[in-house]
Amino acid sequence: MLDMNRIPKHIAIIMDGNGRWAKKHKVPRVAGHNAGMKSMKEIVRHASDLGVHDLTVYAFSTENWKRTEEEIGGIFKLIIKYVDLDLDELNAHNVKMQILGDYSPLPKASIEKIEEAVGKTKDNTGMRFNIALNYGGRLEILESAKELAKQYKEGLISLDDFSEENFAKYLTTGDTAGNLGDPDLIIRTSGEERLSNFLLWQAAYSEFVFTDVLWPDFTPEELEKCIEEYQSRDRRYGGR
Ligand code: FPP
Repeated sequence: MLDMNRIPKHIAIIMDGNGRWAKKHKVPRVAGHNAGMKSMKEIVRHASDLGVHDLTVYAFSTENWKRTEEEIGGIFKLIIKYVDLDLDELNAHNVKMQILGDYSPLPKASIEKIEEAVGKTKDNTGMRFNIALNYGGRLEILESAKELAKQYKEGLISLDDFSEENFAKYLTTGDTAGNLGDPDLIIRTSGEERLSNFLLWQAAYSEFVFTDVLWPDFTPEELEKCIEEYQSRDRRYGGR
């Protein structure tokens, strides 16, 4: 049974297995991503209903550019489709959509749609739905280090200001995203058990739950099972 008093505040998800789902159903890979987009939509709804404060999903990594142009283009088109399908419901549920990562290399139509959704949900005060797009964990750590180094060089800060707190401010989850806080729970679907450059800094004390379910088959019930698993863990943050 879910303990509604111990719902993780921040859940992050590596939505993996769209390609294998497509292969299993003998459909093109992009059809797998389309099914994945639909499951994402259901999970956003359910997480918001459960009272999750932040839901962060890994939609496109800095390494995903290695895929075929057809697949990449398909994913970027799906972002448009997703906003068209879900923007009204995001607003009805008071969900605020934000992007982590530099989405400027995306096609113009996708950028415009993203900015429409971010703009039209910016004043919502419920769950924040954070989409990692062209996101890389090592990259954002380097960017934050560069920003602090720049401030140091300009004499604005001293070496003592190179603190965890200041460092976190310049990550994509920091000031520009309204300071998300670290994920309590990170879920990865499809049986793979690695972080793949996702939230490297932020995952220091996260609980990991891995499930064999392929992302397009991941339902609200599966989400609740992952949260139950999380609730059965004893979090000590390095203490006793
Ligand atoms: C991983 O599965 C999935 C991705 C790289 C893309 C995730 C995209 C979506 C869920 C589509 C919608 C997203 C938005 C923001 C609208 P995979 O292709 O690596 O699967 P495989 O490992 O089985 O090949």
